[in-house]
Amino acid sequence: MRPGGALLALLASLLLLLRLLWCSTDAPARPRFLVEESREAIHGTRAAPRTPGSPPTRPPRTTNSTYLNEKFLPLTERCQNLQAGLETLSNKTRKYSEDDYLQIITNIQSCPWKQQAEEHEKFRVKLASCCDAVQNFIVSQNNTPVGTNLSYEVESKSEIQIRENIFDMLPVTQPFVGYPYNQCAVVGNGGILNQSLCGAEIDKSDFVFRCNLPPTTGNVTNDVGTKTNLVTLNPSIIRLRYGNLKEKKAVFLEDVATYGDAFVLLPAFSFRANTAASFKVYYTLKESKARQRVLFFHPKYLKNLALFWRTKGVTEYRLSSGLMITSVAVELCENVKLYGFWPFSKTGENTPVSHHYYDNKLPKRGFHEMPKEYRQILQLHVKGILRLQFSRCEIA
Ligand SMILES: *[C@@H]1O[C@H](CO)[C@@H](O)[C@H](O)[C@H]1NC(C)=O
Ligand SMILES: *[C@@H]1O[C@H](CO)[C@@H](O)[C@H](O)[C@H]1NC(C)=O
Ligand SMILES: *[C@@H]1O[C@H](CO)[C@@H](O)[C@H](O)[C@H]1NC(C)=O
Ligand SMILES: *[C@@H]1O[C@H](CO)[C@@H](O)[C@H](O)[C@H]1NC(C)=O
Ligand SMILES: *[C@@H]1O[C@H](CO)[C@@H](O)[C@H](O)[C@H]1NC(C)=O
Repeated sequence: MRPGGALLALLASLLLLLRLLWCSTDAPARPRFLVEESREAIHGTRAAPRTPGSPPTRPPRTTNSTYLNEKFLPLTERCQNLQAGLETLSNKTRKYSEDDYLQIITNIQSCPWKQQAEEHEKFRVKLASCCDAVQNFIVSQNNTPVGTNLSYEVESKSEIQIRENIFDMLPVTQPFVGYPYNQCAVVGNGGILNQSLCGAEIDKSDFVFRCNLPPTTGNVTNDVGTKTNLVTLNPSIIRLRYGNLKEKKAVFLEDVATYGDAFVLLPAFSFRANTAASFKVYYTLKESKARQRVLFFHPKYLKNLALFWRTKGVTEYRLSSGLMITSVAVELCENVKLYGFWPFSKTGENTPVSHHYYDNKLPKRGFHEMPKEYRQILQLHVKGILRLQFSRCEIA
């Protein structure tokens, strides 16, 4: 074990919980990412760090390499190995440190990214057969007739009967008239977007997804853009930021007005406690004749999607909104680009990164388990199914 290893092991065992910082969902307090192993196991098998200035040496090839050590390989060979390496990594239960992952991402970034239309199509067919976002991702009059007993996504023993009053809130059919969209942007809220200058590129997309009513006005527009076609909203935000739409109703309406005629997507049927708060958003917007339209995530779609990702090893209690809307985007769009997805406390160059692009809170230091979801997203990037923007955007 290298010096300091015991301290690191202690830190790691203290840190039991990592939230996905870019787009978290509401969930009862319960650890979502458990530390699976102590740190000792890792340091024993870890590749020796290369000292600056030492000549690159080629280690013997191993079939189980996770390309942590593949920085020594020539570029093309290393890039060909990325995919196999990530798959092996996803199947491993042992943990890597944040620095290990940053090294992996540096390797991924050094390889050219290429859209793989056939891979995308294959993946889309799989998603369509489990989940079918195009028909099922939101509750509509079409997929939910009056009288339906809808079971909740998480509290699945509970049902809600869709009477006329609820039915009337629903769009007749899925409202994504531009489907399939050519270029979509899924904008997470990660602090990595600060100073990214990605706004212009994001605004050029045909459809822009955002999470949890993030700010898009003022000094952040250069970095995150202003265009929004769909924004998710967790009921906890209604409570925490807008006092359940009582005294802070005007603030809510003012904030939501910045999204133009975007859809506001709520998980109304995930937990029973979400329902009334979600309906309140619907009525508040309707009464004030707001331009935004409320949509509800279909609980069955979310359940099926969780089962789909579970087969890929994502066993968390509940998916993050980030992975939910990324999955939707992969079905609805020809090209998907993700911005602001960065679950690390620093950049690849060791500059600290805040939680969100709109606050200055730094994530806790120390080692985190790499969220399983992020590994999956990295795989989609490496396979050419979607593209992750890791750093600043090029200015055309
Ligand atoms: C991984 O590679 C190392 C070094 O070649 C080898 O000792 C080890 O048995 C391999 N592990 C697995 C799980 O294949
Ligand atoms: C990883 O696990 C999945 C399913 O659990 C399996 O299909 C795949 O072949 C495994 N990949 C590797 C490289 O072991
Ligand atoms: C829904 O549940 C109600 C009350 O439990 C029941 O009376 C009704 O028949 C159910 N409707 C359907 C379509 O199953
Ligand atoms: C934008 O302004 C807010 C306060 O108005 C400030 O807290 C934040 O740090 C600023 N962000 C940037 C990127 O300058
Ligand atoms: C964004 O970056 C600037 C410059 O590094 C810094 O001053 C500012 O505090 C950062 N804002 C946030 C919200 O982290």
